[in-house]
Formats: sequence, C-alpha cells, structure tokens
Amino acid sequence: MWQNNPVYPVIWRNDSVSLIDQTRLPLEYSYVEISRSQDMAQAIKTMIVRGAPAIGVAAAYGMYFGAREIETSNRDKFLKHLEQVAQMLRDTRPTAVNLFWAISRMLKTAYETIGSIEEIQKTLLETAQAINKEDLQTCHKIGENGLKVLPETPEKLTLLTHCNAGALATAGYGTALGVVRSAWRGGRLERLFADETRPRLQGAKLTTWECVQERIPVTLITDSMAAHCMKQDLIHAVVVGADRIAANGDAANKIGTYSLALVAKAHNVPFYVAAPLSTVDFSLTDGSQIPIEERNSREIYQVGETAIAPEGIDFYNPAFDVTPAELITAIITEEGVLAPEDLRKYQNKQMV
Ligand code: MRU
Repeated sequence: MWQNNPVYPVIWRNDSVSLIDQTRLPLEYSYVEISRSQDMAQAIKTMIVRGAPAIGVAAAYGMYFGAREIETSNRDKFLKHLEQVAQMLRDTRPTAVNLFWAISRMLKTAYETIGSIEEIQKTLLETAQAINKEDLQTCHKIGENGLKVLPETPEKLTLLTHCNAGALATAGYGTALGVVRSAWRGGRLERLFADETRPRLQGAKLTTWECVQERIPVTLITDSMAAHCMKQDLIHAVVVGADRIAANGDAANKIGTYSLALVAKAHNVPFYVAAPLSTVDFSLTDGSQIPIEERNSREIYQVGETAIAPEGIDFYNPAFDVTPAELITAIITEEGVLAPEDLRKYQNKQMV
C-alpha cells in the first residue's frame, strides 16, 4: 500500500542514481542505474525520467556526475568543463524550466564554493540531494494548500487531471496528483478522472498506475471526452501541473491542457494549476515566450510499433501548449494559493 511504499523516481544510492524507467510502466516496474552525466542527459531526452520537477532533480545529479568526471585541479578549467556539462544537460528538453533552474543552482553553487575541486564536488552532491529533498517537501505543501481551495461540495469531489503530475513527475508525492492524494487521504475525494494524454499516454500509463498504488478510484478517459464529462456534471474541478509558468501566470503544460482549460471555462468548472515556484520563469513576461518542444512524428504516427496513419502525410507534434492566465482559477504553490496576477510578488521567494 502507498503509505508504506512511496514512489520515488530518482533515488541516490551506491554512489549513483536509480531512475524508475517510466518508458516501461505500467507493464514493468524497473530501475535504470545512472552514474555518468552523458547517460543522465540521455535518460532525460528519452523520457526514462520525465515531468518538470523530476527532470530538474535528475539534471542536478547529472551536474554532480559531470563534476566528478572532470580530471583537473585547476579551478578555472574545472568550471569551464562544468559549463559544458550544464549545456549538454540543458540541450535535452526545452520547455520545463525546472531543468534550467536546477542546472543554474548547481552552477552557482560551484562558482560560490571556495576550496579545492574535491570540496566543490562534495558541495555539488549535497546541493543535488537538497534539491531532491526540497522538492519532496514542496510537493507535500502543495498538496496541503490544494485542500484549502478545492470546492466545498455536499458530496465528495470528483477531480480531473491531464498527463502525469504525480510522484513520478517530481521527487515524490506529486504536484497536481499531490493535491489529489491529499484530498484522498483527507477523505474528500470520491474519484479521479484521468485523461489518457495523447500521444505519449502519461495519463493512461503513469497517472492511473500511481492511483492503483494508492487505491485511489480512477476512471480513464480519452482526452476528447472531458467536455462531455463536464456537460454531465461529472467533474467538480480540474487540477493539472505545469512545465513553465510566465510571470503573468500563463502556464505551459502537456499538450491538451489548453483545450481542457477552455472546456472547463465553458462549463464553469474551476481550473487549478499546481506547481512549485521553481516552475515560474520570472524572466518571461507572458506565455508566448515559452519555448515549446516538438517531438518525433512517430509518437503520433504509431501506437507501439503499429502505424495508424497512411504514409506520405505530414505531422505536427508539439509536446506542450500554453494556457492563458485568464483561464486559470488559481495557481497552487508551496507558498499558498495564488491568483495568476499575484505571482510576481513571490519572485524573491524563488531560490536560485
Ligand atoms: O513530457 P512530460 O511527460 O515530461 O510532460 C510532463 C507534464 O507536462 C507535467 O504535467 C508537468 O511536467 C508537471 S509535473 C509535476
């Protein structure tokens, strides 16, 4: 049962990192051992580890691996090499800002640590472990804060989520799924509806798997069924995660989130984004500046190994979309439940 057996997608053990292989769930629950920076970059790229906070944590360990691979006692040469490792890790996925945030924090630590290369390496490991631990604590706070804002209803709540913003997408517990989990543990949740989340099916493969671990009643729907479910008054609120939030509250999340927000607005269903402050990119004034990852067309051309479309046609496969702030009821963070327009007040709370 969950409480005795929590899911941690990134685990530090035996001088290396064990990643739950998220490309194999739910059919197989296995780990990949990573101890080199290049392998960590590859694991992020191929989505063995995915989800904005989780790839931030993974990249932080990747920076430590890079630091321990550098063979020099010259500080300037060491920092130059470390910048190259940082760039290799940044080049993995462009949208989730937690990746860039964690890499910046690791670089800042290296520059600010006075002492030998060994001391810098040691401090980098401690910082990666701190990022991991802090994210777990942050998720628990997001879960608690979510309970303050979920609608009061005579019956227990039915929530809808998109993609996977759960333990697997973070250091553990989850952001959007952290809110769901807290509602479940607090006796306020009847059921979760999970969008399957075409094309990579994070909802079908990962969110439902997490619900099964914790015995949360879950109903899987295809993405296009959400409007119909809302029309039938089946959904009290939508809770999703985010990969990057601009300073004005526009939020990038898995492709399909924007249409879900439009549908929620049309049906007067509250639409919450749950994310840590490290997901906010205060350097961007609005969501149009958020880089959107485009992935391989095979993800929509094939289901498994089977082609589902004729050859010779074109494909467009953006992995994320941006939900405008005006469609977001509130942003649930570790610092509290914020109106999108109030985000800027929290800029100085963001640790880099
Ligand atoms: O492409 P993915 O699976 O990395 O996308 C993940 C999402 O879009 C999540 O909803 C988001 O990262 C929030 S995770 C707490």
